[in-house]
Amino acid sequence: MKSTSSVILQLSDLHLMADPDAVLKGVKTRDTFVEVLNLARERSLQGGNEFDFVVLSGDLAHDEQLVTYEILREQLGDWLPRCRLIPGNHDDRASIRKVFPELVPADGEFITFSVESAGWRLIGLDSHLDGEVHGHVDPSQLDWLAAELSTHASQPTLVFVHHPPVLVQSPWLDAIGLINSTDLMDVIRSFKQVRVICTGHVHQESSTVLDDVQILTTPSTGVQFLPYQDELVCDTIPPGFRLIRLDGDKFETSVVRLSR
Ligand SMILES: [Fe+2]
Repeated sequence: MKSTSSVILQLSDLHLMADPDAVLKGVKTRDTFVEVLNLARERSLQGGNEFDFVVLSGDLAHDEQLVTYEILREQLGDWLPRCRLIPGNHDDRASIRKVFPELVPADGEFITFSVESAGWRLIGLDSHLDGEVHGHVDPSQLDWLAAELSTHASQPTLVFVHHPPVLVQSPWLDAIGLINSTDLMDVIRSFKQVRVICTGHVHQESSTVLDDVQILTTPSTGVQFLPYQDELVCDTIPPGFRLIRLDGDKFETSVVRLSR
């Protein structure tokens, strides 16, 4: 019998580097990622059931090195088959394709996904733009999104995209957001079933409702950015992950952080 509930784990903005001791803004991102991953594994054991999917929402390899993706693959271990990933601004599509061939579409330019979980549709979009920090979802990808939403019109839908399609009220981050967010929201608005958009990029937790869609940003597994700042200020709040529980046509979500 098909399960009517599932739990999705979102891990975002890992910023891993090939050097295990490399530090990004005072944080050893490899170490914090391992701690966050271990906490997520503990959570799944406590809950008595495994996550249906583990979504890695971009900025996987800060140094964009092939070896860094290989290290990530090793760390994901037996979770690999349930992982789905999308790139962020700090990512290299060619390396992702090489290291995770079973998790990315075999053809096409973009790294996207569309899967079913407990009656919901999970869709991942690729907002990476070569050489840029801001994001963009290409028109051909918006057409693909519209086709997916049309095919699966009866399924409540959760969309993942690295760059948030809303402002987070930090001017320095809002200047490097999703530059064609209106195009994306136009497609989403033309269908009724998208309930949630989960993003990363801004290294902080936030929640906004736009056009009846809940738009969430998720903390990094490493460096945290203090909200509502004119320029980059790191936050001392610990790294973490997001859980999304899907149950029937309802969802609930929470951020879990390391305790320090
Ligand atoms: Fe990031």
